[in-house]
Amino acid sequence: MKIVASLLDLRAARLSLDGTTGFVPTMGYLHDGHLSLVARAKAENQHVVVSIFVNPTQFGANEDLSKYPRDLERDLDLLRPLGVDVVWTPTAEMMYPSGYQTWVEVEALSQPLEGAMRPAHFRGVATVVAKLFNAVQPTKAYFGQKDAQQAAVIRRMVADLNFPLEVVVCPIARAAGGLALSSRNKYLDESQRKGATVLFRSLSAARDLYESGERNAETLRLKMKEVLAGEALAQTQYVSCADYDSLQELDFVQGKALLSMAVYFGNTRLIDNAILGG
Ligand code: PAF
Repeated sequence: MKIVASLLDLRAARLSLDGTTGFVPTMGYLHDGHLSLVARAKAENQHVVVSIFVNPTQFGANEDLSKYPRDLERDLDLLRPLGVDVVWTPTAEMMYPSGYQTWVEVEALSQPLEGAMRPAHFRGVATVVAKLFNAVQPTKAYFGQKDAQQAAVIRRMVADLNFPLEVVVCPIARAAGGLALSSRNKYLDESQRKGATVLFRSLSAARDLYESGERNAETLRLKMKEVLAGEALAQTQYVSCADYDSLQELDFVQGKALLSMAVYFGNTRLIDNAILGG
């Protein structure tokens, strides 16, 4: 496993990989969800490249970038047994040198849901992912369904900017009780971690309603809110039942829909989602 930092070294390492290359972009502090993306990339490609970069431009001024968990040695130890060819660990100065002024905006898809709560977040995500794609030139790139809007934004960007690669979105990895794996779970204390299974329970309750024939989107949103309200430690920021493609809120579910939510446990903000009619 080659570990490279500079763009020049990344390019040299990439040139030495002959054949299909799967790419897993990450912000590090890897968990089983990331490792399942790496395993899928390994199964579907001759080579695998992983990037580890905590991208400052996707953090808002009120979101603590400096507190984002980091442990490079641990991440490398987790990746070594998985047959990864190259790990790229650029610095912020390399990605955004002085005078940097070029941004990628996926307009409408970046506005609702997470975008409404985190202005400029998806501009930062789309820009860094475009830069990572340009450098790594993967055959396929792997993302988790947990960040459903991110996956939608990246799929749109890849289509709009004609990136010659396939975006693969992998199922949400969950702990026992249904809590979606996330680097941020590390901030939860024991009671919060237990309480945080309410996200999955509320999504499951709305899905059960849908499966029993309910198509009124407001009824599904109310069901999610009702279950979330039953957990004293949970502070709901939003719940949504939106069209899967446009991410616009629905009145009635007809085709594919996305149930999603953001919920605080103390200062820790968790997100989760489920697809209906998929
Ligand atoms: O999902 C993440 O970890 C990040 O948003 C990504 C895609 C690596 C871009 O910084």
